[in-house]
Amino acid sequence: PIQETFLQCLSTHSLTSTPISEVTYFPNNPNYLSVLNSYIRNLVFTSPTTPKPLFIVTPTHVSHIRASIICSKIHGLEVRIRSGGHDYDGLSYVSAVPFIMVDLFNMRSVSVDIEDESAWVESGATLGEVYYRIAEKSKTYGYPAGVCPTVGVGGHLSGGGYGNLMRKHGLSVDNIVDAVLVDANGNVLDREAMGEDLFWAIRGGGGASFGIIVSWKIKLVQVPEVVTVFRVERTLEEGASDIVYQWQHVANKIDEDLFIRVVLNPVTRKGQVTIKAKFNALFLGNAQRLVSDCKEMSWIESVLFWSNYQIGTSTDVLLERHSTKEKYLKRKSDYVQEPISKTDLEGIWKKMIQLRKPVLTFNPYGGKMSEISELDTPFPHRSGNIYKIQYAASWKEEGAEAVDHNLDLIRKLYDYMTPFVSKSPRCSYLNYRDIDLGINEIGNASYEQASGWGTKYFKGNFDRLVQVKTMVDPGNFFRYEQSIPSLEASS
Ligand code: FDA
Repeated sequence: PIQETFLQCLSTHSLTSTPISEVTYFPNNPNYLSVLNSYIRNLVFTSPTTPKPLFIVTPTHVSHIRASIICSKIHGLEVRIRSGGHDYDGLSYVSAVPFIMVDLFNMRSVSVDIEDESAWVESGATLGEVYYRIAEKSKTYGYPAGVCPTVGVGGHLSGGGYGNLMRKHGLSVDNIVDAVLVDANGNVLDREAMGEDLFWAIRGGGGASFGIIVSWKIKLVQVPEVVTVFRVERTLEEGASDIVYQWQHVANKIDEDLFIRVVLNPVTRKGQVTIKAKFNALFLGNAQRLVSDCKEMSWIESVLFWSNYQIGTSTDVLLERHSTKEKYLKRKSDYVQEPISKTDLEGIWKKMIQLRKPVLTFNPYGGKMSEISELDTPFPHRSGNIYKIQYAASWKEEGAEAVDHNLDLIRKLYDYMTPFVSKSPRCSYLNYRDIDLGINEIGNASYEQASGWGTKYFKGNFDRLVQVKTMVDPGNFFRYEQSIPSLEASS
């Protein structure tokens, strides 16, 4: 009966030629599980005991989105919104409270206008699809966003979005000029209609606190016809400590055309555990301008190189929305504002060798990132940061024991790093979702509780996000485990 009542409500409120019942999946539908699982990127949340949505709507039209919001409100249900499903802690498709899921994978058109240097992109598109469609039209345009092609536009663009064009062009959120969102009352709003405060909030404050973002107008950036990449690996025995130490002094200061990421990984060499430092680089220019022994290619080919595809692989792989590399995983993040001394780096290597598992990735800041005010978008980690650290634990073993073991390892390394990273607050990157920082109480979101993790993600911008939230969604309809609280709804 609840199924009938709900479908009835959805049909009444959606006015399109595709009946909403055809794109709605209840658990008794044979396709329910495959629809749910096809965009789960963290295997921790595929277990039979993981709480699942009461049903899933996969809109093909904005009117399906409106109906989902209106009917969930009428029936007092929470909504989870999923675009690409890459949320590290599964907040787009898991919750302890009864909820429905709106999954946008059917809404993924990308329409590129080279003359206007822009594109309209629907939230269900992947970054790979965006890059592919841009490169199809022009070899001298790109878009600053993440390096993993399967990441979804919806979550990525509303949470920050960084990649190897960051030092030259800033983040994804720095290159968005318009958006279409459905608010808590089912209104469909573009930038002009939503106003500048809400438009500010959805560019880095996490979209799911404010509405369902249907599409984004992005600003394309110019890239040279030829770019250059290199990948160099060194172990501790080959001098990695010195190079990482020196990297910290130049990575955020060198020419903004150059982005060099460092990935630090415990590996076994000749029976001994050591640390391997992998330096991945993108240079926006030809090899002669950089140094010899590098590879020149087009920007779209560099996207494949950074995703670890072999040189020569067809760019068609960017249209592949699914990955075969799914793992159990946990991620955390930190910001470094002072170079870590060589002795302390050596202490970190020792700790990593002892723990064996977590991998550290250092991503340099500086360049354009230091020129943009931390008030421009909710993303506050701008000038003063040398690099961001990503902590990564990934594993293949099933079961709760493996989860506990790996969470313990990554938390130990995170604790060990405390003296070397940003303080008051110890900052984190929203798109590296980390529920260790805290979650809202079920059914409520108090300012005090949320400010614990909110100031880590947003620093002083947290208060402005709360103000916008209170203005556009006072009743806190769009709530989830790490949503921005409304001052009117919180106790
Ligand atoms: P997902 O669908 O899980 O959504 C994430 C959050 O956004 C949830 O809270 C969800 O409710 C909300 N949301 C999604 N769509 C919405 C919409 N249309 N309207 C409102 N709210 C919406 N990051 C980065 O900056 N650079 C990188 O290179 C990478 N690389 C990377 C690789 C891999 C393998 C993973 C798993 C993750 C990354 N990330 C990343 C992190 C990534 O940017 C982050 O997880 C994004 O939020 C993912 O967006 P999805 O739409 O895929 O996630």
